[in-house]
Amino acid sequence: MSVLEEVAVPASAEVCSLDSYLVLPDNSMDERIAVARRALGKTTILLGHHYQRDEVIRFADFTGDSYKLSKVAAETDANYILFCGVHFMAESADILAHEGQQVILPDLNAGCSMADMAEIGQVEECWETLLNAGMSENEILPVTYMNSSAAIKAFCGERGGLVCTSSNARKAFEWAFARAKKILFLPDQHLGRNTGHAMGIPLTEMVVYDPWQIGGGITPERLRATKVVLWKGHCSVHQRFLPEHVDKVRAKYPGIQVIVHPECRIEVCEKADAMGSTEGLIRIVREAPQGSSFAIGTEIHLVNRLAKEFAPQGKKIVTLDDTGCLCTTMYRISPQHLAWALENLVEGRVVNRIQVRDDVKYWARVALDRMLEIRT
Ligand code: 13P
Ligand code: SF4
Repeated sequence: MSVLEEVAVPASAEVCSLDSYLVLPDNSMDERIAVARRALGKTTILLGHHYQRDEVIRFADFTGDSYKLSKVAAETDANYILFCGVHFMAESADILAHEGQQVILPDLNAGCSMADMAEIGQVEECWETLLNAGMSENEILPVTYMNSSAAIKAFCGERGGLVCTSSNARKAFEWAFARAKKILFLPDQHLGRNTGHAMGIPLTEMVVYDPWQIGGGITPERLRATKVVLWKGHCSVHQRFLPEHVDKVRAKYPGIQVIVHPECRIEVCEKADAMGSTEGLIRIVREAPQGSSFAIGTEIHLVNRLAKEFAPQGKKIVTLDDTGCLCTTMYRISPQHLAWALENLVEGRVVNRIQVRDDVKYWARVALDRMLEIRT
């Protein structure tokens, strides 16, 4: 019998009010979270993306980038998957979950501004534009970054395309180019451009499709001549890093290595020493010899955590720009939201469940499975 089945839930039970948690200080949640976690035992797994704040991520059973966490979600037997990440990650976990498993996002406002830059209606319109420009469905495949809605993942799956994350974008491009001559990549223009460029595709053969302009703002002739159509989307955290930040940090710390997430602009990535997903960036720091120094172009919670963790090994870590930017949507998941979701679960109530519609789920799963097959 599971812990949840042992817990008696009064018939009239109401969801504990979130407001009563939000007025309490962060540190008063620690003990409550720990107690709830113990009560739930193996019924519940807690996943934490690397951008989560310390007060939340320290409770995670698994931490990782979006690829690693999607794999854990696909493999766990836990009844409840509590996703401390953002909405598209929880949706992907629900798509990959087994029958009967439930996915919870502690704060439903934890979205992703980049994912919101592509809506399914706009993507369908873009596809029409490409076909009307003279491309056939055999000639072009849609590839979507994990940071997109389930509906867009399904769109890609249904048309022979797939999902990728920042750690396997190149493999996904190679997979798609083995089957078609062109790619529509969405929603992050930077990841798409950086990936294409690293594969030797000239920048002149990659155009940006702007969903807010008629015909994407590109002539049909130009579309026909292009190899990669990039959606006009970006991450507000990573797009802030500029090439002059690389120059400045190198001048300030001679010998420092600059490593950046591939959501940064190409001008920044070209000046950097290496690019990597969040997991990839961590690996570079971990494997570097003692005394190495790094300026990292990614979300500030991860950078600060790495700085603290590797200081005892004499590794110096600073943020690429002086201010460092946080992912405000990821930040929405607070210890209070976590305690609220967990304590409700202890009482047998599932709050903030993320559930993808079955018709969307089928094709989105096809696209995600293709990604999991190509690995990183
Ligand atoms: P990762 O693929 O590195 O987890 O990145 C996800 C993300 O949203 C970065 O902004
Ligand atoms: Fe989205 Fe950027 Fe936050 Fe990643 S860092 S979840 S891309 S807004």
